Amino acid sequence: MKNRSLFAKMVCLLFVLVTLSMISYTLVIQKTQREFLRRQAKSVCRQIVLTRQWIASLGGVWSKDVYSGPHGFLTTHQNASDTDQASKFYLHNPALATREISSLADLKYGYNFRVVSDLFREPKNEPDAFEDEVLNRIKNQNLEYADGFEGGLYRYAEPLYVKEGCLKCHGDLNKDVKEPMKSILLEKYGTRSFGYQVGDVRGIISIQIPKDSLLKILTSVFTWWNFIIAAVSVFLFYFFTRLVIAKPLVRLTEAATQLSRGEIGMDLGVESIEEDTKNEIAHLTLAFERLRKSFQIMHDKINRIKEKGVTLPKLR
Ligand code: HEC
Repeated sequence: MKNRSLFAKMVCLLFVLVTLSMISYTLVIQKTQREFLRRQAKSVCRQIVLTRQWIASLGGVWSKDVYSGPHGFLTTHQNASDTDQASKFYLHNPALATREISSLADLKYGYNFRVVSDLFREPKNEPDAFEDEVLNRIKNQNLEYADGFEGGLYRYAEPLYVKEGCLKCHGDLNKDVKEPMKSILLEKYGTRSFGYQVGDVRGIISIQIPKDSLLKILTSVFTWWNFIIAAVSVFLFYFFTRLVIAKPLVRLTEAATQLSRGEIGMDLGVESIEEDTKNEIAHLTLAFERLRKSFQIMHDKINRIKEKGVTLPKLR
């Protein structure tokens, strides 16, 4: 590197600068992607919490004659007066409805969510490693949310607080939970997940959104215009360093070589340089011109002495 030309060094510098700005641009994109995913997860969360709250305030929602196969139902009710065409009703509690909506979202939009708890009633609601760690952090540090990346997924979680409507199924067994729900829950899940109070963290709502690869984002963000602008910048840089720095320096080097050989009549083009110029190379040229002029004066003096017939001592 030490022996490389100034021009080559400038090109290397340009390369380093371009690489650094690419890295910084990539970091900005990564941060923007995370922020974008966080906002998306937050709004999904709000929507789900609202839906669950609405379902809880009704004590669960009943569907007539139909229920979604894989998710089942909490309990059934047969309408006794409906003799001709016996209708059966199925109860969907908030956690069940969450699973039903989540499987629809997964099918339609590729993201999914679920509610999990450290004190889970239903084995399907057992937290995985990420959720377990996040649940502890949310509880201990009182966090509003926690998020992270796992494989190709963005994962986000928010605490689920117990509201008045939740007590019907998660409150005190002797005070809040009433028949017939009490017997249904006890028979199906035992005494797990009771005894909560309003404001307690019941669990978390956990969301998973597939994340696009960085390459996919970069290829969608960059267009041909970016490459054209980059190429134009490199050319401008090339011409600038060639014309403004390299060329005048080469001319000065040639002039210095000529001067060292005793050729002192060269024209450095100083007439075109303005006196108050801020250009460092122009200053160097002016200094060089002064040096050349003093050489010329000395040269003329020596010639005049020689004409008078004086022999000068030889230089060693
Ligand atoms: C109608 C009864 C009912 C109501 C009301 C209800 N839940 Fe549940 N909840 C259940 C049942 C039953 C389960 C477990 C079975 C399942 O996942 O469907 C459950 C599961 C959960 C779970 C998952 C962990 C576990 O125990 O399996 C969380 C978290 C939860 N409920 C929070 C809430 C919150 C918060 C509210 C109030 C907004 C609420 N629930 C209202 C019946 C109810």
